[in-house]
Amino acid sequence: MTTAPAADARALFVDLVGSEPTGVWSSPGRVNLIGEHTDYNDGFVFPFAIEHRTYVALGTRTDGRIRVASTFTPEVVEVALDELDDLFPARRDEIAEWARYPLGVAWALAKTTGSDAATGVDLAIASDVPVGAGLSSSAAIEGAVASALDETWGLGLDRVALAKIGRTAENEAVGAPTGIMDQMSSMLGRPDAAIFLDCRSLEADVVDLGFADAGLELLVMDTGVKHSHATGGYGERRASCELGARTLGVAALRDVSVDDLPRAEELLDDVTYRRVRHIVTENARVIETVRTLREKGPEAIGDLLVASHVSMRDDFEISAPELDTAVDAALAAGAIGARMTGGGFGGAAIALVSHDSVDQVRDAVTAAFADAGYAAPHIFTVTPLEGARRDN
Ligand code: GLA
Repeated sequence: MTTAPAADARALFVDLVGSEPTGVWSSPGRVNLIGEHTDYNDGFVFPFAIEHRTYVALGTRTDGRIRVASTFTPEVVEVALDELDDLFPARRDEIAEWARYPLGVAWALAKTTGSDAATGVDLAIASDVPVGAGLSSSAAIEGAVASALDETWGLGLDRVALAKIGRTAENEAVGAPTGIMDQMSSMLGRPDAAIFLDCRSLEADVVDLGFADAGLELLVMDTGVKHSHATGGYGERRASCELGARTLGVAALRDVSVDDLPRAEELLDDVTYRRVRHIVTENARVIETVRTLREKGPEAIGDLLVASHVSMRDDFEISAPELDTAVDAALAAGAIGARMTGGGFGGAAIALVSHDSVDQVRDAVTAAFADAGYAAPHIFTVTPLEGARRDN
């Protein structure tokens, strides 16, 4: 089921509706190279879109209803489009969790554009983005559905507007208080490049990564430890950052520089200070990574990746023993740099490795997991590729 999700989405549609879809759209997951939890602090991030994508096959219907099906579950969810406003956000619990993403996007699009062009649709979804691995399976589904509905409903929104629709769906319909990084990356991804994004202005620079030319590979080490951002730690971290910004009298932690940290330490309690220090130093590391990449090439960014991991482990406290094990084992086996990626509390770590040492690093991480008594990690390379598109 995971080998050809475009064909799977189409086949599921035909099963569901009994005819061919009007089209198939897709949008990718992402790996964040550096810049974690900086997005909702108006800061900087540097993610890239990967080859794992979510596909949605769409056909219109004439009764004003929206029906969604997915290869992940036999359940099919159907509601009237004009019911969506009653369901989100207040009665979201009545909708199966997976269906809140596509239905939330439909709701956010209709609400934001005030469009009465919304016709009923059937949507069939298939994906090969690993779920819960910190690779933004949610932004992939949001991007695919937003692109499909935007075109079908003739809304003509640009990619940044569609990314914002995805974030509204995620924040309000799903209830996960995330930032804009994942949706922007899914919409704007380019082959062999990462997106240097200012999350305040939403200005995005496409920066060549040059991994292939430098003989480098980016390994994802999925620990298999599942996380969710709709509950628990993610929201607490966000609240700490907001408390820090309020106490320091700034609109967002983006406005605090490394030089301001001694004053912050005087004003904040220890935990809040360490949360703030992570964000402030991480923003500086993103800028430094982009500069280093441009001036010296990808071989030179390893120490910045490692410093980012240490900051997340010790100051922001969002790592997990499995993530630390993956990072430490990868570095010991010769990786140029490694860090956990995404929201944390589980999911995946990444390692930048030379082409020749991929097997060595993979074996070392696998062995370290076995020694620690952890379930075997899922380790694979990813390639920076293009963002949302219509497939056929
Ligand atoms: C999740 C969120 C993003 C971002 C990252 C952490 O992926 O969806 O908005 O906050 O965590 O960098």
